[in-house]
Amino acid sequence: MIFDAGDFDAHEAVHFAHHAATGLTAVIAVHSTHLGPAAGGCRWWSYADDRAAMTDALRLSRGMSYKTAMAGLPMGGGKAVIMKLERAPKTDALLEAFGDIVAGLNGRYVTAEDVGMSDHDMTVIARRTRHVSGLPVSGGAVGGNPGPWTAQGVFAGMRAAVAHQLGRSDFRGVHVAIQGLGSVGGALAEKLAVAGAVLTLADIDAARARAYAARLGSRAVEVDAIARVPADVFSPNALGAGLDAATIAGLDVAIVAGAANNQLATPQDGARLAARGILYAPDYVINAGGIINVVAEYLGQGDVPAVARAIALIEGRLADIFAEARRSGQATDAVADAMARRLIGR
Ligand code: NAI
Repeated sequence: MIFDAGDFDAHEAVHFAHHAATGLTAVIAVHSTHLGPAAGGCRWWSYADDRAAMTDALRLSRGMSYKTAMAGLPMGGGKAVIMKLERAPKTDALLEAFGDIVAGLNGRYVTAEDVGMSDHDMTVIARRTRHVSGLPVSGGAVGGNPGPWTAQGVFAGMRAAVAHQLGRSDFRGVHVAIQGLGSVGGALAEKLAVAGAVLTLADIDAARARAYAARLGSRAVEVDAIARVPADVFSPNALGAGLDAATIAGLDVAIVAGAANNQLATPQDGARLAARGILYAPDYVINAGGIINVVAEYLGQGDVPAVARAIALIEGRLADIFAEARRSGQATDAVADAMARRLIGR
């Protein structure tokens, strides 16, 4: 039964959509609209089967409810996944069909880009619905690539972690091991280097890691070594970064703080980190900079300085979570989940 499925969490609605002419096969999960329209990107991905696609949509949409609530946004949480199938190539017609389905939800769900989708794809979807964000922008307008905004939020959140765990008010001499140097990790590395941090870098694109290391005067290591580098902070900013029992046992850091989504492989892994005395910055709290920017664009509210001010609040929000975890003896992810669930009326 779907209602008993492990990842079903009293989702308000789960839509299964098929469009015969293009082969579009999609799941749109609306987890919560308690605080506003369900926001969450659309992922285009190869799934083993339709159950795997549904599971991903259920899990990711709940994460979005937590993320928007904790970011103080007037939005709920949702997520769309389009199954990447040989018989359904990502054509304009397929994206338009998806836009029609989003339009049919009348604003209960607002889409944006996620893995496998580009800002150009959003412009195609936008031909059919206005409930789409993450469109290309020009000339200093709010919106566009969320990566640098996410990096700004991670930088602020990491500062809260370093203050709480190391009693340090700046990054001078703080050693950060960064996994993944893409749009977020690369921008984060630049900021940390300017702030005087000592960096160790890794990316599956080894040439990219070497180039960053050379430019920032830091060291690059192999991808399978980065999670074991002795450092103050481990910062996961790659795809599918999994903190599981084995990775956690190998960590030699005081803090884990990075942008990757779903860093904890299982709900037990937050407690595992806490048991080792490692301070974990809950992923959906620290990586909310991008969604803050995307929502400002969608709502047509605020300017770039207002977005920057909203992102700066991530530092205080994490400081509160860390303080509550210390006071209550709970793991930081459990503290954040409880705060988020209260905010969405659960
Ligand atoms: P990206 O695709 O620009 O960069 C990912 C980088 O990680 C690439 O350079 C890739 O080569 C590298 N990589 C992949 N697997 C790796 C591995 N096993 N070890 C080391 N490096 C590896 O992605 P982006 O946008 O920088 O996102 C990074 C993470 O942050 C993702 O998990 C994403 O879901 C999450 N995130 C991103 C947001 C954004 O605004 N872009 C917002 C919130 C979360």
